[in-house]
Amino acid sequence: MVRRHPRPEYWFLSFLIGSLSRELLDFTALADNHTSKDFGAAAAIITTSGDVYEYVDVPLDWWHANRHCEQRFAQLLFELPDSELASVSKLLRSHQVQSCVWLDEREAFLRKHKQRRIHTAPILVFRNKTDTKYVKVLANFPVMPAVTVCAHIQWDNKTQEISTIFSYAVPAFINEFQLRGFVDEEGFVRFAIIVHGHHSPYLPVFRSDGQWHHFCVTWQQQNGTWAIYADGKKKASAAGLCATGPPASQAIYDHGTFIIGQDQDSLGGTFKEKESFSGNITDLNVWRRVLSEEQIERVRSCCLIDHELIFGWGSYTLEIEPTVQEVTAPFLCPGPVEQCRVLDVGSGGVSDTSCLHSLPFVCHYKKDVYLLLKKTQSESSPPLISRVNTLANATVIPENVFLGDVRDVNISAAVNVLHALTTVLREEETPVKPADLLGVVQFLKQVSDVEVQEQEQLEMLEQLSQYYVEVTGLILEEQNTDQWSEISQVK
Ligand SMILES: *[C@@H]1O[C@H](CO)[C@@H](O)[C@H](O)[C@H]1NC(C)=O
Ligand SMILES: *[C@@H]1O[C@H](CO)[C@@H](O)[C@H](O)[C@H]1NC(C)=O
Ligand SMILES: *[C@@H]1O[C@H](CO)[C@@H](O)[C@H](O)[C@H]1NC(C)=O
Ligand SMILES: *[C@@H]1O[C@H](CO)[C@@H](O)[C@H](O)[C@H]1NC(C)=O
Ligand SMILES: *[C@@H]1O[C@H](CO)[C@@H](O)[C@H](O)[C@H]1NC(C)=O
Ligand SMILES: *[C@@H]1O[C@H](CO)[C@@H](O)[C@H](O)[C@H]1NC(C)=O
Ligand SMILES: *[C@@H]1O[C@H](CO)[C@@H](O)[C@H](O)[C@H]1NC(C)=O
Repeated sequence: MVRRHPRPEYWFLSFLIGSLSRELLDFTALADNHTSKDFGAAAAIITTSGDVYEYVDVPLDWWHANRHCEQRFAQLLFELPDSELASVSKLLRSHQVQSCVWLDEREAFLRKHKQRRIHTAPILVFRNKTDTKYVKVLANFPVMPAVTVCAHIQWDNKTQEISTIFSYAVPAFINEFQLRGFVDEEGFVRFAIIVHGHHSPYLPVFRSDGQWHHFCVTWQQQNGTWAIYADGKKKASAAGLCATGPPASQAIYDHGTFIIGQDQDSLGGTFKEKESFSGNITDLNVWRRVLSEEQIERVRSCCLIDHELIFGWGSYTLEIEPTVQEVTAPFLCPGPVEQCRVLDVGSGGVSDTSCLHSLPFVCHYKKDVYLLLKKTQSESSPPLISRVNTLANATVIPENVFLGDVRDVNISAAVNVLHALTTVLREEETPVKPADLLGVVQFLKQVSDVEVQEQEQLEMLEQLSQYYVEVTGLILEEQNTDQWSEISQVK
């Protein structure tokens, strides 16, 4: 697995695709204006004189909620002046909506959207405490006068006992370097670090809420200063851990055994169920120095810091005991902006919560756009899209723009779909209806959200941009002008 650096090529392509999409949409805006009749409202659709609000009762994190609305040519409900928000709340309540829903903020938008990254990273799943499950880090550890260990972790809140997140043992000292934690009575996970057998106090670091959290622990030999960070904030620190007394000012020894998920009572073994870890872990990295707060923030957003890295998850040389599950799941890297606005429909109040939480949301359509979308979709099934789906032997583009799920299209899937699209468009045999154009534009929007994660994908990226340009060109051709004019207001 290759680590994902933000690459200049990627940013350029993303810019290119973004501009193309905008051109495409501007083009549609230039065409004729159409009106259409009302198609009636579904239960979750609230229509006012100029707007349509669609309540989506599928809890998603902020980023996916935002993309869901965007891909339907709408916008996540905006933070409005109090009085307007109150009337929207009232409308929602009159339709039996009582929950909290996401709000979009104009200013935060770009920051959130761009810095939020969805990665596919191998996650290690330690289901339940056992005396057998372990993962050994196959790295050669040097002498460490300073150290930082960071990882993303999902704590199993059903276990009460102390869990060992990792233990590093050397022949001279079994408890050379460790991180342990447990859930306290208030529902906080408390961490303590151990260096040369000396224990820091257990201090609360994050809530045991079943969500992913990021942590870093640092220690330096010089004055024994240690620190624990959680979700980008320093939660605890002090000086003097092992700085005095024999063995004063001793660096962490080299050539040790680093085990994730178990306390070692002998070098590399003698595990106890009671002290084992239960939960999920990914992106564990070890550096031979103390990272700054700013660097920790970057690591947390899944940017790699190479300097003095001893073990990186990207190189992924681990010995994994077979009952430890390895899942490759899309993982949402926390962005530097972690709080998102929420409207409590019940009270009409606005507050902030972690953008990672899953909440229902409301998509806001301009009414004419909404009616036009509905009209376009109500006509016969789109021939171009049907043909592409037949070619691909799967529903790669939904026939109805309202029916697709929020999808994280990956680059190889996108190349395949664009390839099928160009094939069909080049044939010029399949008629292109307005609903086809909407489906294609919606798909291109998804493609412009594609993230490149691995080096070898760069070639595919080139292919992707070629197809993208070709599809854009083909569907903009003269003969489709009538179809474009029919969907002119969708922008
Ligand atoms: C379409 O009509 C609306 C009013 O019905 C008007 O505000 C808008 O500017 C028109 N758009 C175009 C492209 O003519
Ligand atoms: C994990 O523990 C729970 C409760 O302690 C038990 O119900 C479940 O079967 C265990 N799962 C496995 C895979 O052992
Ligand atoms: C760990 O991940 C697995 C698979 O995604 C999931 O089923 C499980 O609930 C997660 N465990 C915790 C403690 O969140
Ligand atoms: C424990 O985690 C689950 C999800 O894994 C979550 O639904 C639940 O609220 C958490 N319990 C507490 C007390 O935070
Ligand atoms: C410990 O040493 C580091 C590095 O020299 C220094 O930046 C830090 O201020 C010291 N901390 C204390 C508490 O003395
Ligand atoms: C399409 O899918 C069907 C069933 O999933 C399968 O039997 C068939 O071989 C597939 N055709 C192609 C061309 O992949
Ligand atoms: C890309 O997405 C397709 C369809 O969603 C999936 O079958 C495929 O495994 C994915 N490929 C990678 C490399 O994730």
